[in-house]
Amino acid sequence: MRNFDLLTSLSALRCPPPLHLPAEWRELLRPLPFRYPLEDEQYIETSAGRRVLLRPIRPGDSAAYEAMFHLVARDDVRFRFFSYLKQLPSNELLRFQKIDYDLNINYIALGITASHEREMLGVVGATVVPEESSAEFGLLIRSDQKGRGLGRMLMEKLIGACMDRGIATLRAEVMTRNLPMLALVRKMDFQFFYQADGSYVEIRLRLRREKRDDSGGFR
Ligand SMILES: CC(C)(COP(=O)(O)OP(=O)(O)OC[C@H]1O[C@@H](n2cnc3c(N)ncnc32)[C@H](O)[C@@H]1OP(=O)(O)O)[C@@H](O)C(=O)NCCC(=O)NCCS
Repeated sequence: MRNFDLLTSLSALRCPPPLHLPAEWRELLRPLPFRYPLEDEQYIETSAGRRVLLRPIRPGDSAAYEAMFHLVARDDVRFRFFSYLKQLPSNELLRFQKIDYDLNINYIALGITASHEREMLGVVGATVVPEESSAEFGLLIRSDQKGRGLGRMLMEKLIGACMDRGIATLRAEVMTRNLPMLALVRKMDFQFFYQADGSYVEIRLRLRREKRDDSGGFR
């Protein structure tokens, strides 16, 4: 068993970390929040052959997100946040600091460096709108990790989680120039709704059929 597997198994036991471990190991071993969906953790292998853990966010992940953000190219930041930001927007950080497993669905991709430190490679995050049975999402892959299947695999995690919750529609706004994202979601059967000014596309994925009403139509 590799160190990373051992740490994950120990953290699953929800016991306090041994004191003599290095700081980054102790962080991995911090007891999990009561509602943490442990069953959602999944190891995958990227097309580059790297073993990566996909998991829901936990308290303490915001530092890794900030570190990843500084390795994201300017244009990728703009595609994700629609602006050339120099740091993560406060509302985005807040989702990582005040975790709400009901209203937010967030998965991150974590790799382990040669020096046994963890590093964040990507993140998908959705905000649930219960009254519309929909969720609005954003996806970001660290620029040097693009094209290895991480975007698709994080999207598949998100779609699975939305379906488990009975969410009817997953949606996002994407810049019309963002051809990699549009290519990815087209393959996943999203529908495209071009906005009047032509700079954005609203993308929507219907996850379940609406209930039939009495007249035979759909609600
Ligand atoms: C868009 C983005 C999320 C794609 O993630 P990724 O990990 O590079 O994508 P994947 O490797 O999983 O590729 C999945 C599919 O997307 C498409 N795709 C990805 N990059 C592409 C590119 N540069 N050109 C064309 N198609 C591309 C392909 O169809 C690919 O399928 P394939 O592997 O069968 O060819 C990533 O480029 C990114 O983070 N961009 C900046 C932020 C952003 O645009 N976010 C979306 C706004 S919500």
